[in-house]
Amino acid sequence: MPEKFIAVLNGPNLNLLGTRQPLIYGSDTLADVERLCAETAGAYGIGIETFQSNHEGELVEAVQRWRTTALGFVVNAAAYTHTSVAIRDALATIDGPLMEVHISNVHAREEFRHHSYLSDIASGVIVGCGIEGYRFAIERLVTLTSHRSQDA
Ligand code: DQA
Repeated sequence: MPEKFIAVLNGPNLNLLGTRQPLIYGSDTLADVERLCAETAGAYGIGIETFQSNHEGELVEAVQRWRTTALGFVVNAAAYTHTSVAIRDALATIDGPLMEVHISNVHAREEFRHHSYLSDIASGVIVGCGIEGYRFAIERLVTLTSHRSQDA
Protein backbone atom coordinates (compact mmCIF):
# COMPACT_ATOMS: atom_id res chain seq x y z
CA MET A 1 0.00 0.00 0.00
CA PRO A 2 1.61 3.33 -1.01
CA GLU A 3 1.96 6.06 1.61
CA LYS A 4 -1.14 8.18 2.05
CA PHE A 5 -0.54 11.68 0.76
CA ILE A 6 -2.12 15.06 0.12
CA ALA A 7 -1.25 16.84 -3.12
CA VAL A 8 -0.28 20.52 -2.76
CA LEU A 9 -0.31 22.50 -6.00
CA ASN A 10 0.84 26.07 -6.47
CA GLY A 11 0.37 28.11 -9.61
CA PRO A 12 2.20 30.88 -11.43
CA ASN A 13 4.50 33.31 -9.63
CA LEU A 14 4.22 31.50 -6.33
CA ASN A 15 7.81 30.35 -6.88
CA LEU A 16 8.63 34.00 -6.10
CA LEU A 17 7.01 33.95 -2.65
CA GLY A 18 9.16 35.80 -0.14
CA THR A 19 10.30 38.40 -2.63
CA ARG A 20 7.09 38.96 -4.60
CA GLN A 21 4.99 41.88 -3.29
CA PRO A 22 5.78 41.05 0.36
CA LEU A 23 3.21 43.55 1.64
CA ILE A 24 0.53 41.38 0.02
CA TYR A 25 2.04 37.88 0.20
CA GLY A 26 4.39 38.10 3.19
CA SER A 27 8.01 37.13 3.51
CA ASP A 28 7.73 33.34 3.68
CA THR A 29 9.01 31.41 0.71
CA LEU A 30 7.48 28.54 -1.23
CA ALA A 31 9.91 26.24 0.58
CA ASP A 32 8.44 27.52 3.88
CA VAL A 33 4.93 26.78 2.59
CA GLU A 34 5.89 23.26 1.57
CA ARG A 35 7.62 22.66 4.92
CA LEU A 36 4.51 23.84 6.78
CA CYS A 37 2.36 21.48 4.71
CA ALA A 38 4.72 18.55 5.33
CA GLU A 39 4.79 19.20 9.09
CA THR A 40 1.02 19.58 9.32
CA ALA A 41 0.25 16.43 7.35
CA GLY A 42 3.13 14.54 8.95
CA ALA A 43 1.59 14.96 12.39
CA TYR A 44 -1.22 12.72 11.11
CA GLY A 45 1.08 10.20 9.44
CA ILE A 46 0.21 11.61 6.03
CA GLY A 47 2.76 12.54 3.37
CA ILE A 48 2.58 15.32 0.80
CA GLU A 49 3.40 15.63 -2.87
CA THR A 50 4.12 19.18 -3.96
CA PHE A 51 4.19 20.81 -7.36
CA GLN A 52 4.54 24.41 -8.52
CA SER A 53 4.39 25.57 -12.09
CA ASN A 54 4.02 28.74 -14.09
CA HIS A 55 2.38 26.69 -16.89
CA GLU A 56 -1.30 25.79 -17.00
CA GLY A 57 -0.85 22.44 -18.78
CA GLU A 58 1.75 21.30 -16.28
CA LEU A 59 -0.69 21.97 -13.46
CA VAL A 60 -3.37 19.99 -15.33
CA GLU A 61 -0.89 17.11 -15.71
CA ALA A 62 -0.06 17.19 -11.99
CA VAL A 63 -3.75 16.90 -11.16
CA GLN A 64 -4.07 13.98 -13.58
CA ARG A 65 -1.00 12.29 -12.05
CA TRP A 66 -2.48 12.25 -8.53
CA ARG A 67 -6.22 12.47 -9.16
CA THR A 68 -7.02 8.91 -8.01
CA THR A 69 -4.21 8.40 -5.50
CA ALA A 70 -4.15 11.57 -3.39
CA LEU A 71 -6.27 11.68 -0.24
CA GLY A 72 -7.15 15.24 -1.25
CA PHE A 73 -5.77 18.35 -2.91
CA VAL A 74 -4.72 21.75 -1.60
CA VAL A 75 -4.61 24.13 -4.56
CA ASN A 76 -3.52 27.71 -4.88
CA ALA A 77 -3.89 28.13 -8.63
CA ALA A 78 -2.83 31.80 -8.29
CA ALA A 79 -3.84 33.80 -11.39
CA TYR A 80 -5.19 30.65 -13.08
CA THR A 81 -7.89 30.60 -10.39
CA HIS A 82 -9.55 33.45 -12.24
CA THR A 83 -9.04 32.19 -15.79
CA SER A 84 -8.60 28.44 -16.13
CA VAL A 85 -11.43 26.16 -17.19
CA ALA A 86 -8.75 23.51 -17.91
CA ILE A 87 -7.54 23.37 -14.30
CA ARG A 88 -11.14 23.38 -13.07
CA ASP A 89 -12.02 20.48 -15.38
CA ALA A 90 -9.00 18.50 -14.17
CA LEU A 91 -9.87 19.13 -10.50
CA ALA A 92 -13.46 18.08 -11.14
CA THR A 93 -12.09 14.54 -11.75
CA ILE A 94 -10.25 14.04 -8.45
CA ASP A 95 -11.47 11.32 -6.10
CA GLY A 96 -10.80 13.19 -2.85
CA PRO A 97 -11.82 16.63 -1.61
CA LEU A 98 -10.35 19.89 -2.86
CA MET A 99 -9.37 22.81 -0.65
CA GLU A 100 -8.76 26.11 -2.45
CA VAL A 101 -6.27 28.46 -0.81
CA HIS A 102 -5.29 32.08 -1.41
CA ILE A 103 -2.66 33.77 0.71
CA SER A 104 -4.16 37.22 0.21
CA ASN A 105 -7.78 38.24 0.71
CA VAL A 106 -8.77 38.19 -2.94
CA HIS A 107 -12.15 39.73 -2.09
CA ALA A 108 -10.45 42.88 -0.81
CA ARG A 109 -8.50 43.22 -4.05
CA GLU A 110 -9.30 43.95 -7.70
CA GLU A 111 -12.68 42.87 -9.05
CA PHE A 112 -11.11 40.34 -11.44
CA ARG A 113 -9.83 38.37 -8.43
CA HIS A 114 -13.32 37.96 -6.98
CA HIS A 115 -14.34 35.20 -9.35
CA SER A 116 -12.84 31.73 -9.01
CA TYR A 117 -13.31 28.84 -11.42
CA LEU A 118 -12.56 26.48 -8.52
CA SER A 119 -14.64 27.61 -5.55
CA ASP A 120 -17.88 25.87 -6.47
CA ILE A 121 -16.16 22.50 -6.90
CA ALA A 122 -14.07 22.90 -3.73
CA SER A 123 -15.05 21.49 -0.34
CA GLY A 124 -13.73 24.69 1.21
CA VAL A 125 -12.02 27.95 0.38
CA ILE A 126 -9.48 29.74 2.60
CA VAL A 127 -8.48 33.30 1.72
CA GLY A 128 -6.54 36.03 3.43
CA CYS A 129 -4.91 33.93 6.16
CA GLY A 130 -1.39 34.17 4.79
CA ILE A 131 0.50 30.92 4.46
CA GLU A 132 -1.33 29.61 7.55
CA GLY A 133 -4.18 29.00 5.13
CA TYR A 134 -2.30 25.96 3.81
CA ARG A 135 -2.18 24.53 7.34
CA PHE A 136 -5.91 25.12 7.80
CA ALA A 137 -6.58 23.47 4.45
CA ILE A 138 -4.59 20.37 5.35
CA GLU A 139 -6.27 20.14 8.76
CA ARG A 140 -9.62 20.30 7.00
CA LEU A 141 -8.64 17.60 4.50
CA VAL A 142 -7.61 15.38 7.41
CA THR A 143 -11.05 15.89 8.98
CA LEU A 144 -12.83 15.25 5.71
CA THR A 145 -10.87 12.09 4.93
CA SER A 146 -10.32 10.64 8.40
CA HIS A 147 -12.80 7.83 7.77
CA ARG A 148 -10.62 6.75 4.85
CA SER A 149 -7.34 6.88 6.75
CA GLN A 150 -8.61 4.32 9.24
CA ASP A 151 -8.95 1.56 6.66
CA ALA A 152 -5.59 2.19 4.97
C1 DQA B 1 -3.27 34.39 -4.99
C2 DQA B 1 -4.28 35.46 -5.40
C3 DQA B 1 -4.38 35.55 -6.91
O1 DQA B 1 -5.33 36.52 -7.30
C4 DQA B 1 -3.04 35.94 -7.50
O2 DQA B 1 -3.10 35.93 -8.92
C5 DQA B 1 -1.92 35.08 -7.01
C6 DQA B 1 -1.92 34.64 -5.62
C7 DQA B 1 -3.06 34.37 -3.46
O3 DQA B 1 -2.50 33.39 -2.97
O4 DQA B 1 -3.43 35.31 -2.77
O5 DQA B 1 -0.96 34.85 -7.74
O6 DQA B 1 -3.75 33.14 -5.37
